[in-house]
Amino acid sequence: MLKVTIDDISIAVPAGTTILQAARMIGENVPPAMCYYSKLEGSGGKCRTCLVKVTKGSEKDPRPMPKLVASCRTTVMDGMEVRNTTSPEVMDARKGITEFLLINHPLDCPVCDQAGECKLQDLSYEHGLAKSRYAFKRREFERKDIGDKIQLHMNRCILCYRCTQVADQLTPERVHGVLNRGEVSEISTYIENAVDNDFSGNMIDVCPVGALTDKTFRFKSRVWFTKPVHAHRDCPTCSGKVTLWYQGPEVLRVTGRKNQWNEVEDFICNTCRFDKKEKSDWIEDGPADIDRHSVIAQNHLTYELPVIQKHLETNTQPEQ
Ligand code: SF4
Ligand code: FES
Repeated sequence: MLKVTIDDISIAVPAGTTILQAARMIGENVPPAMCYYSKLEGSGGKCRTCLVKVTKGSEKDPRPMPKLVASCRTTVMDGMEVRNTTSPEVMDARKGITEFLLINHPLDCPVCDQAGECKLQDLSYEHGLAKSRYAFKRREFERKDIGDKIQLHMNRCILCYRCTQVADQLTPERVHGVLNRGEVSEISTYIENAVDNDFSGNMIDVCPVGALTDKTFRFKSRVWFTKPVHAHRDCPTCSGKVTLWYQGPEVLRVTGRKNQWNEVEDFICNTCRFDKKEKSDWIEDGPADIDRHSVIAQNHLTYELPVIQKHLETNTQPEQ
């Protein structure tokens, strides 16, 4: 086991663990990650939002690393010391990266279906400037129809490559990718073919922004008006473990279940996602845990029953 200290908290981790994974094990001061996705091989190293400062390389070689490093791609060395939120330099770099990501991202949150669960929205809220300093025209792409289930809005893409990795890993052959370089890079050509696959809907779940959205849910509701409930069914293709998003008695959409890092626990098939929208298709397991800081948690009862009981008995309010 190797010892690593992140923002003065130490943990022992197995060799091969990255700084980001070690921070997630600690559970505090975790760097944001817009492109890394633990279930997708080769993800990470694209967005630079997870930059951290290594102030001590290792016990053997204590020299600090000369530049900030991507925590999702840098493995831990024994005795390594890392600064994340306690480093003004890291905070400043994260602000810069956020501004950089927003240069070409349209500010269309009021009409974007991803609003409320968009990682770029969260990042901008924490690290963004109140207004853009970018005076040039933003890049724009032709609309591309990729079928009746998934909507591609290339203008919103931040080129994290996660959807191409889903196609690589979950489909028998990769038929789409990032074409061109620089500001004309786009997720393109044969994406129409990639969506013709039982698991292609997972691209929607891994997309951190609103570039890939669910056409069967589009404009039906804002996510904060829906109620997420875990459910399962006996599915011959996937685990059948999903989250149903209810509005009143109606299931408006079905997604994979996500963990606290906003990553799906199990990839689900398109039949579960797009074709099973009746309550009777599912056996419900209970309300989904939603981070209380999330806009989805607003107006929802997010406390465990024992917590509510304790506060009812003592006549006090649970902490918000
Ligand atoms: S479409 Fe979404 S998942 Fe794919 S590269 Fe763009 S931002 Fe990432
Ligand atoms: S999450 Fe590390 S570079 Fe994107």
